[in-house]
Amino acid sequence: MKILILGGSGFVGSHLVRRLSREGHSITVISRYPNAAKHLEIVPRVRIRVFDPYDIDRLADALSGHDALINLVGILNESGRDGSGFRKAHVELVEIAVEACRKAGIARIVQMSALNAGQGESHYLRTRGEGEQRVRDSNLQWTIFRPSTIFGPDDSFLNRFAGLLTISPVLPLARPDAKFAPVYIGDVVDAFVRALDGREHAGEIYELCGAETWALRDIVEWIAEQRGMRRWIIGLPDALGRLQGRVFDFVPGKPFSSDNFKSLLIDSTCSEDGFARLDISPWPMSEKAPEWLGEGHQGRLGRFREGRRT
Ligand SMILES: NC(=O)c1ccc[n+]([C@@H]2O[C@H](COP(=O)([O-])OP(=O)(O)OC[C@H]3O[C@@H](n4cnc5c(N)ncnc54)[C@H](OP(=O)(O)O)[C@@H]3O)[C@@H](O)[C@H]2O)c1
Repeated sequence: MKILILGGSGFVGSHLVRRLSREGHSITVISRYPNAAKHLEIVPRVRIRVFDPYDIDRLADALSGHDALINLVGILNESGRDGSGFRKAHVELVEIAVEACRKAGIARIVQMSALNAGQGESHYLRTRGEGEQRVRDSNLQWTIFRPSTIFGPDDSFLNRFAGLLTISPVLPLARPDAKFAPVYIGDVVDAFVRALDGREHAGEIYELCGAETWALRDIVEWIAEQRGMRRWIIGLPDALGRLQGRVFDFVPGKPFSSDNFKSLLIDSTCSEDGFARLDISPWPMSEKAPEWLGEGHQGRLGRFREGRRT
């Protein structure tokens, strides 16, 4: 197949592009920045095109001749606080992608979303739900994926906490009892490959959860243990967690935010087993992540250089 990917330069995209290439597909990655997808240039059958994906005419033009569009664009934080950044990335771009598919005569779209899309108070989850609705309202053959948090050697979940644990012996943690079912990047990529395979996946939403459910505090303590660090994790009551979000709203790069706090009010666990419907057995994090987690940054870098990524 010929597949165009929006957001293909990121964590999920980089794994997916390599895997689709290995399966013999031709892939076009659209990126906003000249250097963001450079690491994918050496992957066979991959073409990088740099332009603004919000330019509908250019997108429709780029789509011409493809069989499917995969939209992986998503943000965890916006530069402002009114939700307009989330809306632009999660709703407006979906509208543009759907319209560009229509213009270019592309029938198939696969939309990456998130668990709890459309629920709760956070701009992140609300706009995720609106984006899904735009896809569902289209006349395209759509498939939607809703993963819990995704882990892998180069993720920004386990690695972010590992980084924070390195900085300080004490870690104040908002929503310590929030539940996650961390899902391995290789399993997520398998799900995408399978969904592209047949028409029976059109009109389906798949929730993707790993084989284990963890409380956030347990995850952070486990990372510290894997890294051989003795750390003190202090679970914050919600009033303080909310305050932590408000303070971090003003920290450059927003390592945490009020909106993240609101998203954490709902457990990131599945209400159905999307992997079972796709005939995939997902990895438990406790078995898969130690393959690289105990190594630290240099070890991961070495593995990356040896080309042993997913
Ligand atoms: N990672 C997880 O744990 C997780 C869990 C649930 C759902 N998801 C969803 O899965 C998707 C991929 O996640 P990821 O971890 O691979 O994210 P990522 O590494 O941040 O990559 C997202 C890509 O989207 C593009 N992008 C970012 N902001 C954009 C904007 N405002 N407008 C247009 N394009 C933008 C970027 O591409 P360029 O800079 O090259 O243009 C970036 O490479 C996202 O939709 C995310 O919400 C991820």
